[in-house]
Amino acid sequence: MFSMCGIVGHVSSEDSTRSEDVVMGGLARLEYRGYDSAGIAVGSSTGMTVVKAVGKLENLKAELATAGDLSGRGAIGHTRWATHGQPTTANAHPHTSLDGDLVLVHNGIIENAQTLRTSLQAEGYKFVSDTDTEVVVHLLAREFLADDEEGDRFGREVEIHGVPQDARGTAGALARAMNRVMRWIDGTFTLLAMHAEAPGVIVAARRSSPLVIGLGEGENYLGSDALAFCEHTHDALEVGQDQLVVVTATDVTVADIDGNQVQPKKLTVDFTHDRASKDGWPTYMEKEIHEQPRAIADTLADRLDSEGYLTLDELRIPAQVLRTVDKMVIVACGTAAYAGQVARYAIEHWCRIPVEVELAHEFRYRDPVVTEKTLVVAISQSGETMDTIMAIRHAREQGAKVVAVVNTPGSTISRESDAVLLTHAGPEIAVASTKAFTAQITATYILGLYLAQVRGNKFIDEIQDYLDKLAEIPHKVETVLSRAETVRQTARMLAQETSVIYLGRHVGFPVALEGALKLKEIAYIHAEGFAAGELKHGPIALIEDGQVVIIIVPTPRRPQLHRKVVSNIQEVRARGARTIVIAEDGDNSVDDYADVVFRVPPTPTLYAPLLSVIPLQIFACELATAKELDVDQPRNLAKSVTVE
Ligand code: AGP
Repeated sequence: MFSMCGIVGHVSSEDSTRSEDVVMGGLARLEYRGYDSAGIAVGSSTGMTVVKAVGKLENLKAELATAGDLSGRGAIGHTRWATHGQPTTANAHPHTSLDGDLVLVHNGIIENAQTLRTSLQAEGYKFVSDTDTEVVVHLLAREFLADDEEGDRFGREVEIHGVPQDARGTAGALARAMNRVMRWIDGTFTLLAMHAEAPGVIVAARRSSPLVIGLGEGENYLGSDALAFCEHTHDALEVGQDQLVVVTATDVTVADIDGNQVQPKKLTVDFTHDRASKDGWPTYMEKEIHEQPRAIADTLADRLDSEGYLTLDELRIPAQVLRTVDKMVIVACGTAAYAGQVARYAIEHWCRIPVEVELAHEFRYRDPVVTEKTLVVAISQSGETMDTIMAIRHAREQGAKVVAVVNTPGSTISRESDAVLLTHAGPEIAVASTKAFTAQITATYILGLYLAQVRGNKFIDEIQDYLDKLAEIPHKVETVLSRAETVRQTARMLAQETSVIYLGRHVGFPVALEGALKLKEIAYIHAEGFAAGELKHGPIALIEDGQVVIIIVPTPRRPQLHRKVVSNIQEVRARGARTIVIAEDGDNSVDDYADVVFRVPPTPTLYAPLLSVIPLQIFACELATAKELDVDQPRNLAKSVTVE
């Protein structure tokens, strides 16, 4: 069950309302993530209290007001955005063990939740929610109660510091239980657990989902984002992949999944939003470029039903309506529009319907041909771009159905559309869009394959083949990211350039446009993307000695496309251009005409943009950094253009 969540924890040594205040304040700061329910558990010397509410945080505050001030020495809180199943109090976190003593919050996706649920039900566990998190809390409780201090090293060889004498047994058992559970669950998680018999102790674990520890005086903090506690402390610790932490008022003990003690990396967070959530990256943009494997994986995750059919729960347009669609119009702005231009090639190929991509601000002024058989797809990271909002309002007035592909749940565009397909890139803070772009392509591909499935253009095995190839992309993106240094070196050498030309063909053309936009936006360099075939129709006049030209080369497995682009490289090279080429591993046909080659792993043509855009993002980010510009907040720009 995917949920894009905010998580906050706090422990101190005495019962007070401090824990409740810190956790509620932290959840409020994570508000930008969007959510549909929230909850808090407070542990005190007299027991555990859990309060949850559907809707905005003020609903939880109202519930707490009636519960009266909750005094305690530990608290964990959670804001949840569910993309599957109704947001209900039962589905809200924290989840509780059957005996009510153990509470848990979770961010991420437990891939094997169904299997674990079935085996727990066979053991007699009763479930009150349809979340994957409830599976974990029962698993944890089972292991906690069964703990016999044998077998697991955690809590013996790994000394847990700072636990009050009367809570040592409980803390050790909970840590060992968490350690075992980590090995059994597949998927991504940030988990925070607390037990009524050790209220001043939080046991937490993470895998591919964020968790940072804030260090206070006589109190400590946990957050899925340092933003949750940055007003209380500068000092933080990073929790690594598959690590487990035991946090008390005075100490933080960290161990790896094998129970070996680990010295965590210190992190300094500053008080303002714009530093804290970078998790140690110098800029949000760089962090978000590197979050793309996960953004793509999370956008792909959890889309198949038990028979392997694509199922898009948020897509509330009946299949029979989708079968009558005779045209798709994608409306978006900037980077989102380029994502739409990439997706057009795939969707036309898969669904055999014409796909137009129109800049939202142009769409309604050209008196477009839109009928009730037109499917309008609005792509928007923020979901608040006024041009795109006005475009979908116009489209709906003409009777079209509108699908929103957005990254911000609950946004205006998602609320005003007939259906929503969420990208799961996580909050994108840098003005220059990166992980949203690749997530938008992924989501629009999923939409295209769903249409092909519903309309019968593709059989289920063909669709599964496409999805299997898509599932390989996150790992290939990791490979491209591992080669970033070559790109950075090249960018630093070109920091004084005043003009860069980008060339691409087929799906490489919108990538050329996107690469040029990145450089314009953050390095303030005039950059222009062209269709490579357009060169001879005019733009080649721009080529003079030393002109930097970046060319995206198609896979050699499409010889016609490939051959033409290689000859484009020769044409510009012959006129003195300095050529930077993005080409597949093993494609040595470009070597003689390239000053620099950025290599990407071989991948099907339609998926190539998900890889070839990465070096262009890194190039722009590094060049702007070399020019000492504000990468995350470039001049004249805003993250969301909420005016027309
Ligand atoms: C991209 O780097 C820019 N920030 C901008 O072009 C952006 O993509 C455009 O304004 C659309 O924003 P949206 O995706 O939030 O609608």
